Amino acid sequence: MIVVTGTPGTGKTSAARIIARLLKLQLIEANKLVRRKRLYTGTEDGSLIVDMPALRGELLHFTGVVEGHVLCELRLPAQAIVLRASPRALRRRLAPRHYSKRKLEDNIGAEALDYCSIMARENYRRVVDVDTTGLTASETAKKAISFLQAGKSDFVDWSGYFMRKF
Ligand SMILES: Nc1ncnc2c1ncn2[C@@H]1O[C@H](COP(=O)(O)OP(=O)(O)OP(=O)(O)O)[C@@H](O)[C@H]1O
Ligand SMILES: [Mg+2]
Repeated sequence: MIVVTGTPGTGKTSAARIIARLLKLQLIEANKLVRRKRLYTGTEDGSLIVDMPALRGELLHFTGVVEGHVLCELRLPAQAIVLRASPRALRRRLAPRHYSKRKLEDNIGAEALDYCSIMARENYRRVVDVDTTGLTASETAKKAISFLQAGKSDFVDWSGYFMRKF
């Protein structure tokens, strides 16, 4: 199983589709699965609150690519790709969604704090960070596959965000 995770807007859905196609693997979009099987307990700020044990149960024996930002908080027998994007790039990618200022800054702040990457390292046996800044989804997918194969990882530092550098 290959998990593709990261902050909302880092390009998981776009890249995971290409990764699954290139590796000839099945793809599960966690968001869709959660809706279809009603794996949630309620809503908050317009988003579903995922029933994590139920989602874990659905995915435990899956072999293929599964993508979603909640997956960084789930423990699964998989390798994880964490997609990263600079605060500036992320702001651009999230702009069309018209999030509230609070929701937008919460997401960019989570990216700047390496939240998904740190959580993924708690939960997965192998984790690679892939910086997608300036890349297309297709370039991201190819980079992620080669990083998995070579055991490489990007090291990003977005801490300048907190000093208003992004
Ligand atoms: N590598 C990329 N470079 C620039 N823009 C991208 C890239 N990948 C995706 N995008 C664009 O950024 C936006 C977010 O992409 P996408 O929906 O794939 O992100 P996501 O991580 O799946 O988000 P979510 O967690 O909300 O599902 C889309 O408008 C998409 O076209
Ligand atoms: Mg998505």
